Amino acid sequence: MAEIIDGKAIARQLDEKTKAEVDAMVAAGLPRPGLAVVLVGNDPASEVYVRRKMKGCEKVGINSFEHRLPAETSQDALLTLIARLNADPEVHGILCQVPLPAHIDTRTILAAITPEKDVDGFHPVNVGRLSTGTGGIVPCTPLGVMMLLDSVIDDFVGLDAVVIGKSNIVGKPVALMLLDRECTVTVTHIYTENLPEIARKADIIVAAAGAPELVKGDWVKPGAVLIDVGITRIMGENGKEKLVGDIAFDEVQHAKAVTPVPGGVGPMTIACLLHNTVQAAKALAENGEGNGLDPYHDAPDRSLIYGTSEGSA
Ligand code: GUN
Repeated sequence: MAEIIDGKAIARQLDEKTKAEVDAMVAAGLPRPGLAVVLVGNDPASEVYVRRKMKGCEKVGINSFEHRLPAETSQDALLTLIARLNADPEVHGILCQVPLPAHIDTRTILAAITPEKDVDGFHPVNVGRLSTGTGGIVPCTPLGVMMLLDSVIDDFVGLDAVVIGKSNIVGKPVALMLLDRECTVTVTHIYTENLPEIARKADIIVAAAGAPELVKGDWVKPGAVLIDVGITRIMGENGKEKLVGDIAFDEVQHAKAVTPVPGGVGPMTIACLLHNTVQAAKALAENGEGNGLDPYHDAPDRSLIYGTSEGSA
């Protein structure tokens, strides 16, 4: 029987650690970490995510600042708000919820957030830092994936990892993080041939394709560790809607461990956002505004990025 990796429990542990870090910062006279969340328009899914993020802040003692702007907000007005948040000493993390309305250029907006406050890890400077192994803020879902893997794998060196999906938000950063842990990494995508054959060699599979139940039981080597990032609503046989991942969960009992959907990767994303906000606040307190990490030389303590070697922290 495969072990089921309990993302909810691991996220709860991370939240407890984050809350303790916030309390310790405040007790030491440092500013309470603050997260600004910007939502443009009223996309219903984004509304739900933003509400969850604000609630998460409250739970761990992070100040939250919600900025809701109408869908017709101009790109210049949004850039002005971001410049204000970049300069605000009470704000240590800035998150601009995507998707943005079509008349706004997402890349321009994400690049306008100062890298030291970019708690999504989407800024090109943070992407560059990750790809060169020089620290920086890493994206939340990939960070959560690594923490889940850390909860069941002691030694990554030389393991074969297959990442299914090459998105900027999940596939590419996860691949870089696995490479940084000395795995042999294969990234696959929709034009990859022989995907089942490639997957069958893997010690680790991270499925982030957004394709319901793509990974079948006979694609999985006995003893592999499986992380399912996909989440799709489908119609079940009983006519009721259900959520499924990219892995055919019922067929992979011969794996060493697998994340469920829901309750696996999902709960980790917000916990990692809160974790990133506290790390950003600490780095800003130490290094000062606009004087953050030297992208080439100052790789921070790895435990700030991945948690401690106890894994699930
Ligand atoms: N929209 C959906 N997920 C995310 C996320 O993690 N960050 C941002 N900024 N927008 C999102």
